[in-house]
Amino acid sequence: MPQNISKIKKIGVLTSGGDSPGMNAAIRSVVRACNYYGIVCCGIRMGYEGLINDYVVELGPRSVRNLINRGGTELKSARSQEFRTKEGREKAAKTVKKHNIDALVIIGGDGSFTGGTIFQKEHGVPFIGVPGTIDNDIFGTDYTVGYDTALNTAVDAIDKIRDTATSHNRVFFVEVMGRDAGFIALNSGIATGALDILIPEEKDSIEDLFIAFEKAQEKGKSSSIVIVAEGEKLGGVYDLAKFTKMKYPEFDVKVTVLGHIQRGGSPTVADRVLASRLGVAAVEGLIAGKSNVMAGMQSSKLVFTPIEEAIKKHNEIDKDLIKVADILST
Ligand code: F6P
Repeated sequence: MPQNISKIKKIGVLTSGGDSPGMNAAIRSVVRACNYYGIVCCGIRMGYEGLINDYVVELGPRSVRNLINRGGTELKSARSQEFRTKEGREKAAKTVKKHNIDALVIIGGDGSFTGGTIFQKEHGVPFIGVPGTIDNDIFGTDYTVGYDTALNTAVDAIDKIRDTATSHNRVFFVEVMGRDAGFIALNSGIATGALDILIPEEKDSIEDLFIAFEKAQEKGKSSSIVIVAEGEKLGGVYDLAKFTKMKYPEFDVKVTVLGHIQRGGSPTVADRVLASRLGVAAVEGLIAGKSNVMAGMQSSKLVFTPIEEAIKKHNEIDKDLIKVADILST
C-alpha cells in the first residue's frame, strides 16, 4: 500500500441528483481507492440531505462488496432543497467538521456540482466531481456514468415495441429521457432504425415529421417508430400523436413513455469500467491537491475539467450523427 503523505486523511463520498446505473460502481471505486491509499472513507447518505442531517457512515473495502453490478445508489440520492439555502449549507459544514472530513467526492450531475462549488466557496471544503447522469450532457467527459446502460435499456425496449409496430402496421411515438439533452434519443433512434428523431437541440417542425411519414408511405413502409426526447420542444409525445392522428385518421397511432426504466438496472460493462476509473481518479486527484474539478474521460484519456466549465458548457450533439439518422431513415 503506498504511503499517503497528502493532507487528505478522510474523504466523504455522496451521490446527488437523479440516480444513474453505475453510481454504485463509482462509490465502490472511491471506497476501495481510499483504502488503497490509506485514507478513511465515509459515505454520506441521501446526497446533500445527508450532509445537512449527519447521515454519515464509515465505509471499508468490504462494505462495498457485491455492489459493482447493482443499479441505483446504495447511498441513496436526493435533490436537496435545503442545501440551496445558506442555512442548510451551514448545517452541512458542521457535519463535515464533526467528522473531520477533508474533502468530498460528489457523484452526480451539474446541479450537484453547482451545490459543491457554492459549498466549497463558503466553507472551503475541497471536492472532485464524478459525472453521474443518464443524460450524457455534462461537458468534460465523452460519456457520463449511467448513459450507456440507459441507452441500452432504451434500445432493448424500442426493439420490443418494433415487434408490435410491425405486426400491426402501427405508428409509435416513443418518449425517452433527456430533459435538456437528446443523446439518448438520437443514439437509440439510430440504433433502432427510427423513422424520425426529435431532440431539444434541433429545431424540428410537425410539417417535417409529416413529410417523413409521407415519404415512408411512398416507399411502402407500413409501420414507423418516432423517438422523442423528453425535452423536445414540439409539445410532447401525446400532442404529436394527436396531431398525427388528426392529419392521418387512417394511422393506428400509439404512444409509449419509457420513463424511469431507463434509470434502473444493472450497469453495462462500459458504465462499470468508466465509474471504476473515475472513482479512482477522483481520490488520486484529491490526494494530488486538486479541487473544484470534474474527473472525466475524453478520447480515452483521463481529464480533469474545472467544475465551472463542466457546469456552464454542455456536450454538443454530433451533427454528423443527425445526418446519419436522416440518411438511414430514407
Ligand atoms: O437528469 C436525469 C433525468 O433522468 C432526466 O432525463 C429526467 O428529465 C429527470 O432526470 C427526471 O428526474 P426525476 O426522477 O427527479 O423526475
